[in-house]
Amino acid sequence: MNKNVVVGVTGGIAAYKAADVVSRLKKHSLNVNVIMTKSAQQFIHPLTFQSLSQNYVVTDMFEEPKTWEVEHIALAQKADLFLVVPTTANVIGKIAGGIADDMLTTTIMATKAQVLMASAMNTNMYNNPIVQENIKKLKNLGMHFVEPAVGRLACGDYGKGKLAEPEEIVNEAIKLLSINKDLQGKKILVTAGPTKEPIDPVRYITNHSSGKMGYAVAETAVARGAEVVLISGPTNLENPVGIKKFDVNTTNEMYEEVLKHFEWADVVIKSAAVADYRPSVVADNKIKKNDDDFSIKLTRNPDILMELGKRKKKGQVLVGFAAETQNLLENAKKKIQKKNLDFIVANDLTKKGAGFKSDTNIATIIDKNGHLEQCAKMEKKELAEKILDKAKILLEE
Ligand code: CTP
Repeated sequence: MNKNVVVGVTGGIAAYKAADVVSRLKKHSLNVNVIMTKSAQQFIHPLTFQSLSQNYVVTDMFEEPKTWEVEHIALAQKADLFLVVPTTANVIGKIAGGIADDMLTTTIMATKAQVLMASAMNTNMYNNPIVQENIKKLKNLGMHFVEPAVGRLACGDYGKGKLAEPEEIVNEAIKLLSINKDLQGKKILVTAGPTKEPIDPVRYITNHSSGKMGYAVAETAVARGAEVVLISGPTNLENPVGIKKFDVNTTNEMYEEVLKHFEWADVVIKSAAVADYRPSVVADNKIKKNDDDFSIKLTRNPDILMELGKRKKKGQVLVGFAAETQNLLENAKKKIQKKNLDFIVANDLTKKGAGFKSDTNIATIIDKNGHLEQCAKMEKKELAEKILDKAKILLEE
């Protein structure tokens, strides 16, 4: 892999493991430049990194540059990935606070490359709300983290804070370097989550959708360079970074918002679990109980996807989901025809590891020509990649 990784080593006992990380990166034929903080040099000698990386190690912001290349701006520009290992609470805090007072923090501030941080620190420090807030802030800004592992720490405590295994850190780095921007220039509209149909000011009708699948599609599409609009029903998920998100509650609201963006989109992926019916009348005040049974009259909601199918232009790709508990393939195939879809992602909700709340899914992707791709149980992110791969092929046809 002909890419440049800048490794920042900070002052924690796990600094010695950074040597293993650098050695593994070199085995992947990556060019590695190391920047060490002053405190990192208390734990491990720069010569170790110089020998492993076969590059001069930057240790001081004010020393005479050995070549023009070691200036911090040069390294910031050269980096395809900036990996900080180990990442101390101090460095996280500095970056989150915009402080650039040494070579490492200055270079991070100046880089446009992806940043991956492998944190390692004492458990109480890691759990400190200030550190957690800082991590959250950096994540929201698009920086990536390898979570620390749980184990016995150098200080003798037991808990979360141990540097992740070098193998895991390198795998994460390779993954970030390999993400190709193959969807650059493509416009993707994703819907996610459930809808909420009010009955009165207190109650509503909804379903078990968590939104995880749609958010995974939106996040993956952005990572691959697409411009993404996400229209989301109510979920507990964090706002994905780099995405234009519109929040809706009811099917009608989703319908209107989707129509606003439909013409713009090259691909529409409708993973939302939409309520087909809404209460015919929404009571102004809380409905009071009495001793009789009670029923609610429901009115049919628009079928958003079917409407999009009618309006679909040549070149647009329309993807639906089918959540079924019986006759999965038969029902899913009917939906492809009825809604004029290019393909559908069918889930059997009765299977363990598939469906709403889970982080995994078991899906069958069926296209309009009846071709089936049975997917094994996989992370929703992985399924998102498959869905986007298929949409991309159709866009190119
Ligand atoms: N969908 C939609 N508008 C609706 C209902 C569903 O856009 N009013 C979309 C969903 O987002 C999904 C696909 O249609 O992509 C299939 O949804 P699903 O709930 O599986 O099926 P329905 O069409 O509602 O049919 P049924 O409830 O009879 O299974």
